[in-house]
Amino acid sequence: MCAQEGNPQRETEFVQKIQPLLKKYCYECHGEVSPQADLILTKYQTGQQVLEGRKVWLHAVQMLRDNEMPPDRGEKPSSAKPERGLLVDWLTAALASNDCRGAPEPGRVTLRRMTRYEYRNSVRDLTMIDYEPAKDFPADDTGYGFDNIGDVLSLPPILLEKYLAAAEEIAAKAIVGEGPTKPVA
Ligand code: HEC
Repeated sequence: MCAQEGNPQRETEFVQKIQPLLKKYCYECHGEVSPQADLILTKYQTGQQVLEGRKVWLHAVQMLRDNEMPPDRGEKPSSAKPERGLLVDWLTAALASNDCRGAPEPGRVTLRRMTRYEYRNSVRDLTMIDYEPAKDFPADDTGYGFDNIGDVLSLPPILLEKYLAAAEEIAAKAIVGEGPTKPVA
């Protein structure tokens, strides 16, 4: 479900149940006049605005869960009272809905390198040279039991040096010239 589409039930709940709790427990310190931690919570007037301030509210939910907010001197929604639960549940559910504004953001794919076995096989496929020294490459790191996970395969400087040496050696074997041709008299 996309945040963009709005959610009438969420909006009603925000106004009827959530905002009164924020007023009771949070606005006192996080209002517009000298807000604690520079955090103004009164500016979130709709459920949709809460979603747009996702980062702040995720933090708030965590603090509510950990009983850190409101701090001791404020009146607390005690965990025995249903109020803390109500706040946490509503915020968690609202923040879990997808935010579909803007283009989808699938993240980034790691630029990956080959493992030493892949390197050896690729060189053989391309040049028909079985490049044994690929065994000298440092062992590939493993992650989740696999040694070909792009995120795990880093490129240590020593490997880069080995790549350069390997490239020269392979090129020397693969390109067999006959020497410069002699001028014909
Ligand atoms: C008695 C004053 C007081 C009350 C009431 C209060 N806060 Fe706070 N809040 C603070 C202070 C002081 C800090 C900064 C110190 C800290 O992080 O513990 C803070 C920090 C925060 C932060 C972290 C801000 C940041 O950028 O690090 C969040 C989120 C927060 N409060 C949410 C809430 C919520 C939600 C409520 C209501 C349930 C609430 N606070 C009630 C005083 C208060």
